[in-house]
Amino acid sequence: MTVHTSGASAASSRTHIARRTVDSEHPTYWYKDAIIYQLHVRSFFDSSCDGIGDFKGLTQKLDHIVDLGVSAVWLLPFFPSPLRDDGYDISDYCGVNPDYGTLDDFRGFVEAAHAKGLRILVELVVNHTSDQHPWFQRARRAPKGSPERDFYVWSDTGHEYEDARIIFLDSETSNWAWDPVARAYYWHRFYSHQPDLNFDNPLVMREVKTILNFWLDLGVDGFRLDAVPYLVERENTTGENLDETHSVLKAIRAEIEARNPDCILLAEANQMPKDTIPYFGQGDECHMAFHFPLMPRLFMALAKEDGAPIAQVVEDTMRLPEPCQWALFLRNHDELTLEMVTEEEREDMWQFYATHRRLRINLGIRRRLASLVDGDRKRIELLNALLLSMPGTPVIYYGDEIGMSDNPFLGDRDGVRTPMQWSPDRNGGFSCAPSVSLYLPPVVDPLFGYEAVNVETQREIRSSLLNWMRWLIEVRNAHACFGRGDIRFIASGNSRLLAYTRCLPEEKVLCVVNLSETAQAANVDLSEHEGRVPVDLFGGCRFPPIGALPYQLTLPGRSFYWLRLSSQDEAPTVCEPCEGGGTKPELPDAQATRQTRAEARRQG
Ligand code: NOJ
Repeated sequence: MTVHTSGASAASSRTHIARRTVDSEHPTYWYKDAIIYQLHVRSFFDSSCDGIGDFKGLTQKLDHIVDLGVSAVWLLPFFPSPLRDDGYDISDYCGVNPDYGTLDDFRGFVEAAHAKGLRILVELVVNHTSDQHPWFQRARRAPKGSPERDFYVWSDTGHEYEDARIIFLDSETSNWAWDPVARAYYWHRFYSHQPDLNFDNPLVMREVKTILNFWLDLGVDGFRLDAVPYLVERENTTGENLDETHSVLKAIRAEIEARNPDCILLAEANQMPKDTIPYFGQGDECHMAFHFPLMPRLFMALAKEDGAPIAQVVEDTMRLPEPCQWALFLRNHDELTLEMVTEEEREDMWQFYATHRRLRINLGIRRRLASLVDGDRKRIELLNALLLSMPGTPVIYYGDEIGMSDNPFLGDRDGVRTPMQWSPDRNGGFSCAPSVSLYLPPVVDPLFGYEAVNVETQREIRSSLLNWMRWLIEVRNAHACFGRGDIRFIASGNSRLLAYTRCLPEEKVLCVVNLSETAQAANVDLSEHEGRVPVDLFGGCRFPPIGALPYQLTLPGRSFYWLRLSSQDEAPTVCEPCEGGGTKPELPDAQATRQTRAEARRQG
C-alpha cells in the first residue's frame, strides 16, 4: 500500500495488501494515516444461523467496513476460550474458537480483507491465560520450583505485592487466589480465573514468540497488546510500568521487527500520561498506544463546555518518538474508564453521564457513545469531529457509526457488546437463528433498537449518521495533516470553544469546535496566517481572508469547522455550495438496495 505523506487521500491509495518487503530506510508508518475499526467476530454477522457471529459472516460484511472509509480492522479475541471474560481468558493461543469458525476461515478472512485494502490487527493477551489453559493445568500439578510450575506466579501466603491495586473492584477482593490442586496461591490482576503468566520464566517468553510468529505467518498486520502495564511483579512496587515490563515489550518488538517490520504493536496501557508515554520507548517499543489520558477528557470537556481539559492533556502528550502515534478512541468494548482522573472529576463524570448505579462498573461507565449523549446527534458529531482531528489514529467501535446503544441490564460489559444492527428484520439482520439462541439479545428499545437504528435504513437516508460518518472519514482521509501534522492550540477569547491548527509544511487546517449547547463567537488569533483564506473542507466554501486583526467566527451550538488555510492562489474564487462541490458520499441507489433486500429475502 502506498502511503502518501502529503495531502493525498489515504483512501484513494487503497490497493491489495500483500506480504511486502519493507524498505527500512524509508519506512511508511502506514498506521499514521489509518483509521481503525474495532469489532468482535461474534457480534458482527452470523453466517451459520447458530446465533453467534463468525469469520465467514464477517468476511461477507467487509464491504460495510470498506464503505465507511476505514483502513484497518482490530479483532477482539477470537481464540478458544471458556468465555468468562469474553475471550480475554484464552485456553489456546494458536487456534480459532470453533463457534467463530476455523483457521481456514480466518485465513479466508485475512485474504479477503487484504484484497480490499484493509489491514488486520489481532489481540496478544499474554499478561494472563484462562485457568483452563493447559499451561495452568500442568503448572498446578507440577512440583514447586519446576519450570512448568513457574509459568505462573505462586505464593504460599498470598501476602506478597500488597501495593498492587485491584482492577476489577466490583468482582475481586484480592490479586491472589487459592488453588486447592497446587496447594498455593496464584497471582491474577484481573478475574481470579485468569492467572498471570510469569515473565521471569524465560520459557514464557519463548512461548510468546511462538504465538507472535504463528499469527505473523498468517498475515496479520499488528497486535493489540492487552493489559501491558502488569506483565511483571516486584515487591514494594505497584506492579505497574516496571522497567522489567518494558524489557519484555522491547523483546516482543524485536521479534516482530525481525519477522515483519511493517507489523505494529498497539499498547493497552491505561495509565497517566507520564506512565503511558514510556510504552513508545525510544521508538523501539510499541508503535502506538491508546490515548487513555485524552479519552475521558473529551467527554469531560463536552460536559463542562470547556476546552481546557483537552488542550492541557494534548499539550502534555504531543511529543513522541518519530515512528510513534497515539490511538484515539471514544468508546470501546470496555467501560468508559475513569481510573486515571481525579476523584472529583470521576464524580462529575458519573453525575453527568451515569446517574444510575447500573450504568457504572468498576471505576467506569458501561455505555456506548450514542446513549452517553442521549442520542443527541449534535454531540455525537462533535465528539467524532474531535476524534478525527486530534493528533493520532482514530479507532471506531463497531456500531458507533450508526449510533447503536447499549443494554445496561446485561452483566459485566456485555451491554456494549450486543449484535450489530444491520436491518429492521428479525434479530436486526444479524442472524437468522431463533432469537432466544443469540449469544446476546439485540437492543430493542424504541429509540435505539434495531428497527430504528440499523445500517440498511441509514444507507438509504442521505442525512443519516452513517452517511455523515462516511463523509467525515472521507474528508479526514483526504488530508494527511490530521494523521501526521503537528497541533497548536490557539487563543479564541472564549473558553467554550477549542481552536487548533493541524499543520504539515504543505498543508494547514484550522479546526474550531464549539463545545457549548448554544451559539458562540470567537476571535481567533490567526496573525501568523495573515493573508491566507480559510476554505471549508466539507463544502469548499471560501471564508473571508485572514487579516492582521483576530479572526471573527460564529458557531451554532455544538458545531465545528474544519478550514483549510489556503494561499490566495489555491483558494476558490467563489463560494462553492456544499451540494455541488462537496465530497458528501454518494447514496447507494435506494431502489437497487431495496431490490437486493427483496432478493435476499426470497432466497431465505
Ligand atoms: C483488557 C480488556 O480490554 C478487557 O476487556 C479485559 O477484561 C481485561 N483486559 C482483562 O483481560
